[in-house]
Amino acid sequence: NVHAIGIDIGGTKIAGAVVDDEGEILAEDRVPSPAGDSKAIEDAVVDMVVRLRKQHDICGVGVAAAGFIDAAQSTVYYAPNLSWRNEPFQAELAARLTMPIVIENDANAAGWAEFRYGAGRLASDMVMLTIGTGVGGAIVANDALYRGGFGTAAELGHIRLIPGGLPCGCGANGCLEQYGSGRALQRLANELADAGGIGRELAERRAWTGELSGTDLSELIQSGDGGALTALRRLGGYIGQGCATLSAVLDPQLFVIGGGVAQAGDLLLDPIRAAYLENLPARGFHPEPEFAIAELVNDAGVVGAADLARIAADRSA
Ligand code: BGC
Ligand code: NA
Ligand code: ZN
Repeated sequence: NVHAIGIDIGGTKIAGAVVDDEGEILAEDRVPSPAGDSKAIEDAVVDMVVRLRKQHDICGVGVAAAGFIDAAQSTVYYAPNLSWRNEPFQAELAARLTMPIVIENDANAAGWAEFRYGAGRLASDMVMLTIGTGVGGAIVANDALYRGGFGTAAELGHIRLIPGGLPCGCGANGCLEQYGSGRALQRLANELADAGGIGRELAERRAWTGELSGTDLSELIQSGDGGALTALRRLGGYIGQGCATLSAVLDPQLFVIGGGVAQAGDLLLDPIRAAYLENLPARGFHPEPEFAIAELVNDAGVVGAADLARIAADRSA
């Protein structure tokens, strides 16, 4: 059987889909993320799989989660922005669902989907960064997802950008996530609004609403507010610096930028490229990789998780 289920556990919603071996979605489902502990999330995932598998013959389930996952694709070692600590998620789900389950890092799943079916189709070596609540990473090296020795490679949000910088949910400080995430964009925008002198709408909204939200910012970016655009340019500057470091390590042909903030398109890519080139080792003598916005947007997590579940099922067959 070639159909697999992909589940993507996000901060606001849990999405699930039955996906065929061409990356096409045959059925989908979504529920709001339950408040509470990991048990509530587990219940929601089990219910969703039970609903989705009714109409389809399924070879396995891939579950994308925002954390450090072990090499056996079973345990969430640590989730910087959630309460998971050494969570044996795979065993818990497998006991209730009696079918093959793999747990996958959310950004790895999205990156794999882009590599197979989206912006990375033509590349053999790509890096994807997902810019959301956190900064997620995926590395495709030589046509394969790179997992590292313990399974947790490509935690690219946690490369150090600023020595002695802001504390991060991972326990370290100065991580890219603290300067290049959606939350960082909010912080940068709030700081700009408080400093004054730039972005009239930004300042007004800050005065009405207190904290500027992600929705405020995407509206202000669309309306071309100078303050919001400055915040976005600074964010891109940090991400571009991170990409230059990643080039020294991985030398990808392509960087794919995904996640909610990537909806800004060239407004985000342009400052990323500029900062990348400024910081690229051997600039002028090193081929320049492409930068692209992710294509699968909302579906990347479920499609990638399903594809990786199918690969795992083939391997164990
Ligand atoms: C986590 C990653 C995750 C990323 C995006 C980071 O804080 O460490 O595991 O992929 O956020 O959700
Ligand atoms: Na990752
Ligand atoms: Zn960190």
